[in-house]
Amino acid sequence: MKVAVPRESAPNERRVALVPEVIGKLVKSGIEVLVESGAGAGSAFPDSAYTDAGAKVVSEAELYSQADVVLRVQKPSAAEVGKLRSGQALIGLLQPLIDPQTAQALAAQGVTAISLDALPRTLSRAQTMDALSSQANVGGYKAVLIAAEAYPRYFPLLTTAAGTAKPANLLILGIGVAGLAAIGTAKRLGALVHAYDVRPETREQAESLGAKFLQLKSVADASGSGGYARELTAEEAAAQKAELEGLIGGMDVVITTAQVPGRKPPVLVTKNAVNLMKPGSVIVDMAASDLGGNVEISRAGETFTTENGVTIIAPANIPATMPAGASAFYARNISALLVHFVKDGAMTYDMADEITSATVITQGGKVVQAATAKLLGVEPAAPAPAPAPAPEPAPEPAAPAEAPAAEAPAADAKPEAGA
Ligand code: NAI
Repeated sequence: MKVAVPRESAPNERRVALVPEVIGKLVKSGIEVLVESGAGAGSAFPDSAYTDAGAKVVSEAELYSQADVVLRVQKPSAAEVGKLRSGQALIGLLQPLIDPQTAQALAAQGVTAISLDALPRTLSRAQTMDALSSQANVGGYKAVLIAAEAYPRYFPLLTTAAGTAKPANLLILGIGVAGLAAIGTAKRLGALVHAYDVRPETREQAESLGAKFLQLKSVADASGSGGYARELTAEEAAAQKAELEGLIGGMDVVITTAQVPGRKPPVLVTKNAVNLMKPGSVIVDMAASDLGGNVEISRAGETFTTENGVTIIAPANIPATMPAGASAFYARNISALLVHFVKDGAMTYDMADEITSATVITQGGKVVQAATAKLLGVEPAAPAPAPAPAPEPAPEPAAPAEAPAAEAPAADAKPEAGA
């Protein structure tokens, strides 16, 4: 079986789907690995590192003609979809709920598309495959470094012969995977870290990392299903914003990470809150995308300073700014998912398995994942049966995926991390 890694083509994407470190393991298990020349260059992995690890470096044309499975970070461009052929499998962060048209094009091409962002993340055996978490972890860490770089003072308390520097007051809004990584990083840099989330269980998690949890009166508990937050009602959201305004005004640095599956990110930092901040303060909006962000006036992919001297940064694709570290984690995630599908040297699709039924988006020329089919307004096709004979009695048809990431989103759904 031949597994191939093309060069990523999205603008500013420097990650690569496999790093040399994981290739030896795959090769040992009988998988041949092809890597497009230059695929690892953005992540500081030269072609020679792949060759040394046991992969074959090939041209793009050779890659698409020989591959049984193509491994990517981001979804393919329309031109790249056209290069794939019937019977090939494609694994990556394909974002079928944000871009169902690419899924439809992959189905039309006869490709079996498998999306890492549809993984049922709470299954313990899926944990090594959880690319949303690994990339959010990188994002939370890097967001603090971006803030520190832009902040014109010290983060830690510093006593020197030239005087004392006060520690920065830093607030993290949203204590999921990225928020927890941000708390740990900001603590290590010596800031006074405050954190807030609408899920009460995050208090203990934040406090165990040394942050002070802010309890708001306006929203007691907005836990949704599967460990995620629910969308607030209009009244709750308005009260929350008003209560946060006063708190944000006293902060030097604010990092926002709040997301709600299937919805636009909530606005937590209003224009008024920004106006209350001191000159030199910094806000990093990790949730910002073309759909909006957590900061009312942030602009996705841009950095600007407001009239009252607050720098607002909404970085696009943070994991790609730390490409070697992010790719190392991603490579472990994607190779674990790949290995899940390989039985006796071939890709095998057992739709009774939760991981398989959640992540296989297209198969046999059709969109088979219910949430994506719903967005396209088509009936999900019955998945092809697993090649092994079904045990008696015949298994129930696979239940629709329970993972929040696989729920059909509103038209204004949040994009998955890492895109
Ligand atoms: P996310 O990216 O969907 O959201 C980030 C954070 O924003 C969440 O903590 C959420 O509660 C918070 N948030 C949403 N609306 C908010 C509002 N209006 N105000 C303040 N905060 C708001 O979340 P992420 O990081 O993808 O994961 C969320 C949950 O999934 C966590 O409970 C995490 O522990 C769980 N998880 C569990 C895994 C496992 O069991 N292996 C793996 C990955 C995540």
